[in-house]
Amino acid sequence: MTRDHHQRVIWTIGGGKGGSGKSFITTNIGICLSKLGARVILIDADLGGANLHTFLGILPPGPTLSDFIKKRVSHLKEALIHTGVPNLQLLTGAQDLLNAADAKSAQKRKLLRSIKSLESDYILVDLGGGNALSVLDFFLMSDGGILVATPEPTSIENTYRFLKSAFYRRLRQAVSSFSAKSLIDEAMDRKNEAGIRTPYELLREVRRINEEDGRKMVEEAATFHPNLILNQVRSKKDIEIGFSIRSACQKYFGIQLHYLGYIVYDQDVGNSIRKRRPLVLENYRSKAAQCVSEIASRLADSHRMPHGI
Ligand SMILES: Nc1ncnc2c1ncn2[C@@H]1O[C@H](COP(=O)(O)OP(=O)(O)OP(=O)(O)O)[C@@H](O)[C@H]1O
Ligand SMILES: [Mg+2]
Repeated sequence: MTRDHHQRVIWTIGGGKGGSGKSFITTNIGICLSKLGARVILIDADLGGANLHTFLGILPPGPTLSDFIKKRVSHLKEALIHTGVPNLQLLTGAQDLLNAADAKSAQKRKLLRSIKSLESDYILVDLGGGNALSVLDFFLMSDGGILVATPEPTSIENTYRFLKSAFYRRLRQAVSSFSAKSLIDEAMDRKNEAGIRTPYELLREVRRINEEDGRKMVEEAATFHPNLILNQVRSKKDIEIGFSIRSACQKYFGIQLHYLGYIVYDQDVGNSIRKRRPLVLENYRSKAAQCVSEIASRLADSHRMPHGI
């Protein structure tokens, strides 16, 4: 995880199924961080349905990131919207960039540089639910990627799928030889002819054809530390699922996943959304708000290397 000298940190929130709570969590963690005195920008990059403004109870925004990309505004900061919450601003329209299948890696890096140049302490990006390549790229280019899952098997399955895709994409970017890259492409297909089922098997095969690329893969794996939030938990057993996912990631992927914490299922969440008032402002004492607040403090305490629970 890297940070520039202004200590600006970009977190991306994605993965999992639709409706797991990514937008709710992005908004409310952002507010908690702003209440701790940090300057925060929320970026809505959900391809399917940008709705952070609704979570914040503000009207569909005027200027967007698209206006910046299409040069209708000259600086990205002109596309920032005040949310009414002190220290908290919103940038929407990032879905246009993620949607552009032909958006070159260089373009995405350029945009990321513009985003990083914004005056802020934390930037939280809601990536939405998909795992399109551009979504994975954004997840990988950020300082920290956070996956939101619920305890349902389908959500967990999606989380593994997202992690595997992101991990393989990262490995693909790290290796140099054409043969290693095509082997990784092949491994993405679960029914690949080479019979590669796990990252360990992939590593063994890459080592066989290119020792140097094998070494690079090991180095890359050691620095890949995605994060997990388990949302809508209803029991102690549900909470444990986060630890099981963490162990499985280590065992089958060789990935060190941080379990950032869990958020309980709480009807106050739905009530607050219906009122268009963020939960941590509307009902700070609710159980879910307390869970969100703990996770936000954990992020604020140790954003270089977050420690899980
Ligand atoms: N902890 C919770 N307790 C109860 N309900 C919750 C909780 N978290 C989220 N929800 C419910 O789940 C719904 C979906 O949440 P949200 O819109 O944040 O999901 P999402 O992951 O952003 O979905 P999408 O992928 O469609 O953008 C909310 O409308 C809310 O009612
Ligand atoms: Mg959403």
